[in-house]
Amino acid sequence: MTCAARPETSSPRIAIAGAGIIGLSCALELARRGAAITLYDPNTPGRGASWAAAGMIAPAFEAASEPGVHPQLFDLCLESARLWPEFAAHLETESGETVGYAAGPSLAVAASEAMAAHLDGILDTLTKRGLPGQRLDMDAARRIEPALSPDLRGVLQLTTDGHVNNRAVVSVLLALCERHPRIMLERTPAPLRSHDDALDVEGHDFILIAAGWQSGELKVTEHGKQFSLANWDSSLDEIDTYGGQMLSVERRADHPATTLRAGPIYMVPRGDQLVIGATMEPGRTTGMPNTDDVANLLQDASRIVPSLADARITSAWSGIRPGTPDFAPFLGRTRQPNMFVAAGHYRNGILLTPITARIVADLILGGDSSDLAAAFAPSRALPAQV
Ligand code: GLY
Repeated sequence: MTCAARPETSSPRIAIAGAGIIGLSCALELARRGAAITLYDPNTPGRGASWAAAGMIAPAFEAASEPGVHPQLFDLCLESARLWPEFAAHLETESGETVGYAAGPSLAVAASEAMAAHLDGILDTLTKRGLPGQRLDMDAARRIEPALSPDLRGVLQLTTDGHVNNRAVVSVLLALCERHPRIMLERTPAPLRSHDDALDVEGHDFILIAAGWQSGELKVTEHGKQFSLANWDSSLDEIDTYGGQMLSVERRADHPATTLRAGPIYMVPRGDQLVIGATMEPGRTTGMPNTDDVANLLQDASRIVPSLADARITSAWSGIRPGTPDFAPFLGRTRQPNMFVAAGHYRNGILLTPITARIVADLILGGDSSDLAAAFAPSRALPAQV
């Protein structure tokens, strides 16, 4: 790991725990606004949930009309989706690399009456807000995407929902952090310590916790002993794990060229591969994909796209989504006045990256903080966990 020498500075010094897509993008935004950053991660940066994802930027499908979620999650997702084109263009200009951002539309499809009712709910939410979204009959849908099964019960075109190559984004963010003169990368856990009830990282004014599902388990040293960080803010204990298994297949001419959604399943064309996700497994933290689960996922996908039935699997992997009780991230100051959190992005980590970096930088460096941002403070009222 490159450790750029950080010059002496009177700028705010911020320690960030976690170098996934959230930690990396917050580091860059804070450094862009003049802060000096040390980014800590004992693991390979960006190889957790950020790497496992398919890069869906899907505010409508993920957040509109989902029961039990934070009432303003859709607003946050929409706002971040609006930031994505500029965010992607900035990454590409700064790095000279492409990140594969593709705005919508994507197609949400229903293989059952229940799924069709879900599409109705999404369309209803979009219509009430004056947002685009259009039901397509099967002929129109199959003109756009001939790989679709003719037996589907409904298709909705979602102009708001696109995708990006999340692995390219992570690689670019990491390269930009590595060469930034005010960002230092340390491949160690953040050396959090506590004395007289005050928490700090030596030499830093603020701490940002961006370690996803591991945020509450970060270690704090106090009187020579180690304790979990959740002891300093119990909201971090509320971040649960939701495993997801995925696969890719060799993409043939009769496979989709369009991003597709169908209930929990999504398919994203990426070069000569088609990425297919994902299972949803509360409590799962193991890293290895299971052969039967992957086969079942491909079988489910082939009900949407029949030509996938004999597709050649090229890879399978799994990741862990960090989810709060209302499935929206914790963004803001913790019970420790010098410690902030940006974690718990659940299924929307890639989508919510630009807005998270903006909110975090506003909050820590004292910029304008919106009412929308305040609604995601970790101190908000949360639904009771079952
Ligand atoms: N963002 C899609 C998923 O979490 O599977």
